Amino acid sequence: MKEFESQLEDSWKANAEAWTNSIRLKEIESRKVSTDHAVLNEIISLQPNKVLDVGCGEGWLARALSEQGIEVVGFDGSEELVEKASAAGGGIFHYLNYSDFGRNPLQIGHDFDVAVCNFSLFSEEITSLLQSLTSILSPNGIIIIHTLHPYSIAQDGRYESGWREETFSNMGEGYKAKMPWFYRTMGAWLNELKMAGIELRDCKEPIHPVSGKPLSLLLKTTPKNNPRSADA
Ligand SMILES: C[S@@+](CC[C@H](N)C(=O)[O-])C[C@H]1O[C@@H](n2cnc3c(N)ncnc32)[C@H](O)[C@@H]1O
Repeated sequence: MKEFESQLEDSWKANAEAWTNSIRLKEIESRKVSTDHAVLNEIISLQPNKVLDVGCGEGWLARALSEQGIEVVGFDGSEELVEKASAAGGGIFHYLNYSDFGRNPLQIGHDFDVAVCNFSLFSEEITSLLQSLTSILSPNGIIIIHTLHPYSIAQDGRYESGWREETFSNMGEGYKAKMPWFYRTMGAWLNELKMAGIELRDCKEPIHPVSGKPLSLLLKTTPKNNPRSADA
């Protein structure tokens, strides 16, 4: 729904300061105990030279990857967050929303060995973004989608795709706007990949080390007919 989509983008402008503090002060438990390591390890294991950080936020992932000698380009639809990422360094960051990126994907470069969407796919329509990403990958390129686990969220409501609302409680102080986001069931995620013409190569489900509950869903994918398919 168009109204939710614009509220979603605007929330990241209004909450840029609070979000930056949450990340840099490590106030989000799931990230601290599991999900940050999961995505970092996954990317590093692929030994990429060049990574695209899609919806990079304040840039923590780019900084962590650049410490490993990996070249990183990031883009995000919140100018405030892009400014914070640029100030902290670790990559080249562009202020760009997904629609503008889709009109000309090459504007941020090409030959990316990995494009990673780390908790940054919240829209109802993500097919065109995923398709655009396939056009700027290196021949063996991989798209990683790391997102909220459909089963953990389902505990609070119906197991049915649809718009939900994030209030950022338990993520620190200072949040000014709620974020509408589109929840997908596991089946809906798999259908998204199919519609975008990408194939699932590996699926990980990081859990909370104490409760054992699933925290996130980490999908490693390649465009159809990608040579990497053979060794995946
Ligand atoms: C939960 S934050 C994650 C940020 C970062 N990937 C991280 O791991 O900390 C979601 C990010 O996605 C970005 N985002 C969401 N929808 C977007 C859109 N349509 N265009 C560009 N960026 C978008 C937001 O601005 C925000 O920075």
